[in-house]
Amino acid sequence: MKLGVNIDHIATLRETRRESIPDPLSAAREVLAGGADGLVCHLREDRRHIQDKDVFRLRELPTRLDLEMAATPEMLKFALKVKPDMVTIVPEKRRELTTEGGLDVVKHSKKLRPLIKRLQGAGIIVSLFINPEAGQVEESAVLTADFIELHTGKYALASSPKELEKVGIATQQARLIGLRSNAGHGLDYSNVKKIAHIPGIEELNIGFSIIARSVFVGLKQAVKEMREAIK
Ligand code: PXP
Repeated sequence: MKLGVNIDHIATLRETRRESIPDPLSAAREVLAGGADGLVCHLREDRRHIQDKDVFRLRELPTRLDLEMAATPEMLKFALKVKPDMVTIVPEKRRELTTEGGLDVVKHSKKLRPLIKRLQGAGIIVSLFINPEAGQVEESAVLTADFIELHTGKYALASSPKELEKVGIATQQARLIGLRSNAGHGLDYSNVKKIAHIPGIEELNIGFSIIARSVFVGLKQAVKEMREAIK
């Protein structure tokens, strides 16, 4: 099981004072020293945390970068400039605290198709952040995405076996139709294990719980502990 660590909230802290610290690049180095397999960051349209220059600087590090972004012409242009290893397309609402649900790829299929093609044409792996629902998985394959990332937010909130099962079923369905699966959102040190045991999920993308833990034990240690938890 691979671990991608989302460092948005290092930038959130920095932006509360419009300072240059804490620097997401320094945080990224600590995250990698703690055993992360890759970095994840979300460039939001309102630039509330990660800024354009952060992404360019993170791209310089010798590791895998997954850029989360909304399906907009502005973000497409940006991604084609930065050329991250992977783009994860997420829904975005300005007022939300975090990415509250998966992208409705059925509803937005027409808009997504050319965007996915442009990214893939530039050699960028494309992942779609979707809810674990059969119709969403199926449409992701039709859109020729490389990966889906299954939104684990509902499972994380309720820790319910039913929600866990949905993630497992969606992973199986994806595998059968040739899609690779990642998962993330709301995962923490106690709820992550059951998701990590689902066969077929390749990587977990985790942010908030690791950054929160790092306040007490440091970032490197917080990542190490998450590695232990998903072993
Ligand atoms: N995966 C995606 C696509 C996300 O948008 C987020 C939140 O930015 C995460 C994973 C990480 O979620 P959390 O911060 O709750 O661990």
